[in-house]
Amino acid sequence: MIDTTTPVQDQPVLNKTAFGEDFAWGVATAAYQIEGAHDTADKGPSIWDVFTSRKGKVKQNHNGNFACDFFNCYPGDLLLMQSMGIPDFRFSLSWSRLLPNGTGNVSRQGIGHYDRLVDNCLELGITPWVTLYHWDLPQSLEKKGGWANRDIVDWFAEYTALCGHAFGDRVKHWMVLNEPMVFTGAGYFLGVHAPGRRGFSSFIPAVHHAVLCQAEGGRILKSIDTSAEVGTTFSCSHIEPLRQREQDFQAARRVDALLNRLFLEPALGLGYPLDDLKFMRRIEKYIMPGDENKMPFDFDFIGIQNYTREIVRHSFWTPFLRANLVSAQKRGVPYTVMNWEVYPESIYHMLHHYSQYSDIKKLVVTENGAAFADELVDGEVNDQRRLDFLQRYLQQVLRAKQEGVKVDGYFVWSFLDNFEWAEGYTPRFGLVHVDYETQQRTVKNSGLWYRDFLNEKADSGGERG
Ligand code: FCB
Repeated sequence: MIDTTTPVQDQPVLNKTAFGEDFAWGVATAAYQIEGAHDTADKGPSIWDVFTSRKGKVKQNHNGNFACDFFNCYPGDLLLMQSMGIPDFRFSLSWSRLLPNGTGNVSRQGIGHYDRLVDNCLELGITPWVTLYHWDLPQSLEKKGGWANRDIVDWFAEYTALCGHAFGDRVKHWMVLNEPMVFTGAGYFLGVHAPGRRGFSSFIPAVHHAVLCQAEGGRILKSIDTSAEVGTTFSCSHIEPLRQREQDFQAARRVDALLNRLFLEPALGLGYPLDDLKFMRRIEKYIMPGDENKMPFDFDFIGIQNYTREIVRHSFWTPFLRANLVSAQKRGVPYTVMNWEVYPESIYHMLHHYSQYSDIKKLVVTENGAAFADELVDGEVNDQRRLDFLQRYLQQVLRAKQEGVKVDGYFVWSFLDNFEWAEGYTPRFGLVHVDYETQQRTVKNSGLWYRDFLNEKADSGGERG
């Protein structure tokens, strides 16, 4: 791992008040990555339980069976969050905990669990921000075709209505989907995430059905509670061509359409960006009469999740997209344990990029963070690189906000170290270190900084080595 993150001493002072009084400050998590308790309290298997049980799918064959045991440890974890002065907590619901078979029988134990979690947040003065779907589809639905089966629109509607009715009296901030580009692309096209399917035949219908579900979920939540703030989240990366050449510009345009526009534009009523993604034209065969009216939904906020930027070059040999991403290592720039370039301006560009869509009411950064090789030494984790990363990205959020971008929240990914999907437990993203043997939590220095920043004790951007 190279350590070339530039220190932040020359940057302007980071001060929470500069972001405004209504700015939401939080941490983000997802059910499968932290809960554990994979087969207790009625929970049915999800695609991630099955995928991780197959040899060679996840590094070191890790799985989320126990993870951070958040299912049992949440009372202590919420107390810790409160002690750090973190006011907003984003977590996801496990569909197969609530509906073990995906549809039909409701698990009272599942409902009871999330009832207690939500109540506990509220008792501590922590606002719950709930994601309906963060990638853990019930396996029984995958057996019926999963996201590639159009019936998912009905399955998802049933699940959404259940959640809205069960928790909507207390949960006032919702996100429908987490990063549909990643769960369809990695799960149904590349096969590197659950359910491990490959190729266009599953991917293309999965994209369309996710677009329908994202809007339908929004409509259902709003119909249950018109006062709820309903959003959805998108992965996004600032895209640049490698060289100032027409072919690379065109390649960058295609990658931008795929990574940054494919799921957003239909939600805004703009349809799919097919002019820039000709190979996606086969999606038209899945668009049924009337779907044009079902794809848009007027979200109260759009969640953007940004970690890095991508540099793109034309590649004749790459089918369909005719583009390649040039890795950070090859370019000799700083990168994290995920091999993602550290590039704070990316978040600034993405905030501007999305704020150009006049129908977006507001933006919330629902994820941003970094994995570095942390070490716990004498009860301390001195994660200076994460601390620098967060400060530098936050500076760019503030810069965009001061230029008029409507960004009203920021959530660090993540509260705890957790199960990082196909990468297993090696990348640690938490503000809080987790010892997976003992379930001991240790607040890292970045977490101490975030605490001081949120409580306005850090007026100069924190400790700067
Ligand atoms: C995002 C995911 C989240 C986490 C971070 C690192 O793509 O939404 O679950 O894995 O990346």
